[in-house]
Amino acid sequence: MSNHARSQRPDFATLVERRYRRREVLGTALATALGAVGAAALAPSAAARAARAGGAAFEPVPASTADTFRVPAGYASQVVLRWGDPLLPGAPAFEPGVADPDAARRQFGFSCDHNAYLPFGPGRDEGLLCTNHEYVSPGEMFRGEARDADEARARFEVEVAAHGMSFAHLVRAKSGRWELAPRSRFNRRVTGETAMRFDGPAAGSAHLRTTADPSGSSPLGTIANCGGGVTPWGTVLTCEENFDDYFGRVEEVADEALRNRLARAGITPGKDFYGWSEHDRRFDLTEEPNEANRFGWVVEIDPFDPDSTPVKHTALGRFEHEGANCALSDDGRVVVHMGDDARFEYLYKFVSRDRYRPGDRAHNRTLLSHGTLYAARLEEDGTGVWLPLVPEGPLAEWSMADICVHARAAADLLGATPMDRPEDVEVEPISRRVYACMTNNSRRETADAANPRPENRHGQIVELIEEGGDLASTRFVWSLFMVCGDPADANDPFVSYAGRREPDMAPVSCPDNVAFDRRGNLWLATDGQPYALGVNDAVYVIPTNGPDRGVPRRFATGPIGCEMTGPFLARDDRTLFASVQHPGAGGGLAEPTSLWPHDASRMPRPSVVVVEREDGRPLLG
Ligand code: FEO
Ligand code: CA
Ligand code: CA
Ligand code: CA
Repeated sequence: MSNHARSQRPDFATLVERRYRRREVLGTALATALGAVGAAALAPSAAARAARAGGAAFEPVPASTADTFRVPAGYASQVVLRWGDPLLPGAPAFEPGVADPDAARRQFGFSCDHNAYLPFGPGRDEGLLCTNHEYVSPGEMFRGEARDADEARARFEVEVAAHGMSFAHLVRAKSGRWELAPRSRFNRRVTGETAMRFDGPAAGSAHLRTTADPSGSSPLGTIANCGGGVTPWGTVLTCEENFDDYFGRVEEVADEALRNRLARAGITPGKDFYGWSEHDRRFDLTEEPNEANRFGWVVEIDPFDPDSTPVKHTALGRFEHEGANCALSDDGRVVVHMGDDARFEYLYKFVSRDRYRPGDRAHNRTLLSHGTLYAARLEEDGTGVWLPLVPEGPLAEWSMADICVHARAAADLLGATPMDRPEDVEVEPISRRVYACMTNNSRRETADAANPRPENRHGQIVELIEEGGDLASTRFVWSLFMVCGDPADANDPFVSYAGRREPDMAPVSCPDNVAFDRRGNLWLATDGQPYALGVNDAVYVIPTNGPDRGVPRRFATGPIGCEMTGPFLARDDRTLFASVQHPGAGGGLAEPTSLWPHDASRMPRPSVVVVEREDGRPLLG
């Protein structure tokens, strides 16, 4: 059912009350269930919250429009790696505005996004930082137009090389500074031209065959690497999100059925943002229509084996993948929660067929190859069901390869719920509740229970409780944890933070990336506050339990034009890694709107930052 076909829903107050009433039935909601008026009477004062929220000892930073990365007093931040920093042997120093493909293949990529820090052994001060590079902004990388065809070609090659992932062997010095181990064999770049392989139900299928790879088994490269995850066996997952922006000449595709399939994947006329089809025929849909089927996957990479071949897991479905966050079910199967970040797309989860075996890496490396992919339907009454994408019922005529490659269309037929841009979906490790960020959806016309705001500028966070607390369950209940926006904005009736609303609560808009600390606090990075609130994107700490449940505290603010992405807590919550993505977005190099991180290049440079407490204790004490 399309969103537009949906009938008018009950008003918002009724919906919120229903959601929280359901939580009371479950016995999991506390005073937060009462709604804004009742809860306000029970709420601690702002001062009391400042003293103890989630154990947080920090004084929140104010909202910012400055060109700085700011953290609270008593904390220190460091820029660890910038776009263009040398990573591999022989990499030259960054040269502003110069298109050198060979250099780009050895340097830290552009648009850093998801981070994972995997320590070597029990010592936590040395490890691999695994960072996604989502996309490129040619206007902020190169000066002016390319002079000639050679330079245009060089720029294309730099763009391909600036995608993918970087693996950086970092060492934390006694001084607290994080440094790259420049000669480590673990330093690695994976790019848009790295050899990979497919596995799972669609591997080798006709959908994936191209002229260059008639076996349909050996894709070239990964692009649009947005969110990600870490597996229990110590590999990383990188998610191909906006792959629909990279293919050219869709308007010349003659076959209408093919055009419709491409459109359902998001590939519509005008989406060829980068013009790569002019340089490489694999991105030309009139030449290689199946190349577009070879992106939109979750890719597993073993960072501790720098010679390993990355694996695109077709069992996890093809869509605009955001995060892929792993947890274990009660019986030890791997559960991966995922979002499809586009307007009116779905929440998904994958449950492995086989169980995780501690210490058996060879076995565990097969777990993402076999299992069941589900899409979520969120009912009006606060219940929900995971719909299995299997060749039965409406999908009886489909093969598993069809289902995996065209997961969106399969989920359409099963009646999954169209959401407001599902971004990160992550399990809170103590309660095992699941938190799903919906960034925003300016095109929503008709509200529903889970997406309550028309023309949704601010987004919401949905909380799911899987039946029996078992992450492999096929049923769940859900509620609106946060309907974002400015609690002080009297013109916005929707804002609700765990059922409460007080004018001194920090405004939060465009919830995007999530990490949890060991106490169950949600660390939230935002994407879009410059447009929604008129302030820079930020990182917040939000308790999910206790009297301050749902009360956000602003922990860090990014520089102008950036989006904060990839928060990752390491060293027993002593260290926060995060990405400052696209500082100065849209400004270009002639008149840059940001010069962060204010180095000698005099250009904005996407960079990974690290934040620690000056006294070395865990971030929240
Ligand atoms: Fe690339 Fe959904 O953010
Ligand atoms: Ca993202
Ligand atoms: Ca996350
Ligand atoms: Ca985003």
